[in-house]
Amino acid sequence: MRTKYCGNIKIIDLYKSVVISGWVNKIRNFGQFIFIDIRDNTGIVQVIFERKNLTLFNQALSLKNESCVQVTGIVQKRDLNNKNPNLNTGEIEILAQKINIFNISQPLPLDYSSNNSDDLKLKYRYLDLRQFNLLENLKIRNKVTYLIRTFMTKKNFLDIETPLLTKSTPEGARDYLVPSRNYPGKFYALPQSPQLFKQLLMVSGVDKYYQIVKCFRDEDLRSDRQPEFTQIDIEASFTNSKNIRKIIEQLIKKIWLKILNYNLNKFPILSYNQAIHQYGSDKPDLRNPLKIIDIFNIFNKKKFLEFFKLNLSKKNRIALLCFPSGEKISRKKIEQYCSYVNKFGAKKLFYIKIKKIEIGQEGIQSSINHILNQAILNKIIKQTNAKNGDILFIIADIENIVNHALGMLRIKLGDDFKIFQKNIWKPLWVINFPMFKKDKIGNFSSVHHPFTAFKKDHEKKMFNDLDHAMSDSYDLVINGYEIGGGSVRIHDFKMQEKIFNIIGLSKKDQKEKFGFLIEAFKYGAPPHAGIALGLDRIIMLLRQTNNIRDVIAFPKTTSGSCLMTSAPSIIKSENLSELGINTTKNKY
Ligand code: AMO
Repeated sequence: MRTKYCGNIKIIDLYKSVVISGWVNKIRNFGQFIFIDIRDNTGIVQVIFERKNLTLFNQALSLKNESCVQVTGIVQKRDLNNKNPNLNTGEIEILAQKINIFNISQPLPLDYSSNNSDDLKLKYRYLDLRQFNLLENLKIRNKVTYLIRTFMTKKNFLDIETPLLTKSTPEGARDYLVPSRNYPGKFYALPQSPQLFKQLLMVSGVDKYYQIVKCFRDEDLRSDRQPEFTQIDIEASFTNSKNIRKIIEQLIKKIWLKILNYNLNKFPILSYNQAIHQYGSDKPDLRNPLKIIDIFNIFNKKKFLEFFKLNLSKKNRIALLCFPSGEKISRKKIEQYCSYVNKFGAKKLFYIKIKKIEIGQEGIQSSINHILNQAILNKIIKQTNAKNGDILFIIADIENIVNHALGMLRIKLGDDFKIFQKNIWKPLWVINFPMFKKDKIGNFSSVHHPFTAFKKDHEKKMFNDLDHAMSDSYDLVINGYEIGGGSVRIHDFKMQEKIFNIIGLSKKDQKEKFGFLIEAFKYGAPPHAGIALGLDRIIMLLRQTNNIRDVIAFPKTTSGSCLMTSAPSIIKSENLSELGINTTKNKY
């Protein structure tokens, strides 16, 4: 149906006869000639129809934009003033000799020359995908999965598929459930990840596993979350966290080099506590140079603690952000930042503007001027390295609130003042997450999943200091996005049972939900570790889009529906009764 793709026809093809197939991108009628741009997935080429070939000319006249055609013609040079430097094929055009019209298009419901609503674009996703930008995202996605497969195969990882109709794997979201016809009233769960299967493969002696796999999570969606998304899932036996990080670092470096021609430096490592302390986040964007600086030591006196109205029964923190050249920020803007941090629970945002520090306290302007003196100022300047022209934003509150509020202010200042370059990449590892988190009523749950092992020697904390027990875990963060997460796993059934006990899983639930795993760990389970990377998020970064939908062929809306197929949809009552299901709610 074609001898050449549109985007690949070049000056070396001059005078050759070519057959192209594609869509009508644009029609320009000049009376004696019609110029028609034909597009396929490689690019656009201009075709010229001459009135002297009247039958052909009339056929061209009948065309509408987006009609699907096949054209046979001769490649010829464009006139000098007709060349288009913006087009790969801009030096040539095709003189049409024959046209075969496959399908005349009705006017499209999407207007490619303007902004269409998100809903319309999703409803006609197959038309939206005709645009080069989205298509390019899918091409890059394909290149990346190819790179991953060759890389993992070379490293002796086996690509093994795991079931989609399975039992629940806890990854912190709700499950998508699938009813069973053979067992009415019983359900499969779609996997939130292949976590348990990959661990069982290690018990089987597979040694090194990987899979590019769909995962399903029923959770609140965001611009970097979809209910079904793709993981690069990895597990290896007889290894440790360092080795897993090493291999992933090699893989990511390779992807960035091959796709963006960008050399990533060695990934720095921060502990979870350092990340929270310095950036107020476990996924800090290191392109933003601001760091949270602790100044509790300077104000650690009763009169100051009273001034800041700190609740002394809680763990407090007094800390600041030093924003270079921020001295010009207006009072009004400072008030806006104050309301901004209020949203994260911080009672107040104090500031010190450093105008002319050499003349002492006269040379500053501050909302806490009355509690400052020269000695305190000297200490603050020394500790923060602040310079004339800078502004310090200070919060004194409960530690978690200070971390979160200053962390969010750090991001806000970064965005408002565009303090970092767009085209740089700052990956990092965040390691040693807490093993557990505690809810308001004191119940523990796992921070990673409950199959995560303690950091070496932290098992002891199980008996008296659970709050501070760390796991042997690691997250990969790039430019503020969590790209992957993994851990060393528990491979001892007694330890696994202890963890289930800590997170309050009854013996009955342990047996029912994870009995098969506990049992597997009794038959010579090897030590093992792994990770999963979010493929969609990697492509988002590579394509510099901030919406995950742009890198998925058929994504869902934020409420988890597909506007194109109208899924989810109502099922006939006879089908439901076959499954033993009786619906009680039907809002639609
Ligand atoms: P985790 O839950 O951290 O770990 O997931 C791994 C990575 O998957 C991506 N991700 C998502 N991407 C898009 N939409 C979502 N809803 C979504 N949820 C997660 C993120 C995340 O870092 N089984 C463990 C891995 C392991 O321990 O080996 C797991 O799934 O980029």
